[in-house]
Amino acid sequence: MKHRNITRILCLVLGSLAINSAAFAHGTEKHGKTATADLQMKKLHEMMPMFSVTSAKLEAALEKGDVAEAETEAGKIIAAVPDLKKSKPHKNIKQRKRFVELATKLDKAVISTVELAKKGDVAGAKAAFKQVEEACAECHVKFRD
Ligand code: HEC
Repeated sequence: MKHRNITRILCLVLGSLAINSAAFAHGTEKHGKTATADLQMKKLHEMMPMFSVTSAKLEAALEKGDVAEAETEAGKIIAAVPDLKKSKPHKNIKQRKRFVELATKLDKAVISTVELAKKGDVAGAKAAFKQVEEACAECHVKFRD
């Protein structure tokens, strides 16, 4: 009985070692990327500072109740979403499906922020904007930080 337990523990240890070294192997993969993938990463780097500025302006526009400006700023984010979906993060690149889902979440949240603002539902628009920030943060936790 005792012997069997030791074997089981050994298997667990060896198993987790194997998983860790597999993770290491994945970590080095990004160095061998093609020019296309580099371009996609560059796109992401260029897009994100714009997202930062634009979402701050969107929030300020909601505060002021400036629907036209909110629409303009939201439009910039919405226009960039197809590129965001095509781009590649440095981290967790295997989880592309989740990356695209979070880009979609961002898209939807921005769209509903503007729609609610246009209807004059300020509280609703602000709540939807919280979802925008959540999508930014969620994606960063998984794919950036
Ligand atoms: C679908 C994923 C995703 C979403 C959604 C997203 N980001 Fe990012 N963001 C990233 C990744 C990945 C990086 C890291 C870029 C890199 O290292 O190539 C990043 C980096 C950044 C940076 C740092 C600049 C840089 O190039 O490293 C800022 C600022 C930023 N994002 C702002 C935002 C804001 C604001 C939002 C929401 C309006 C947002 N992001 C939404 C994935 C996302």
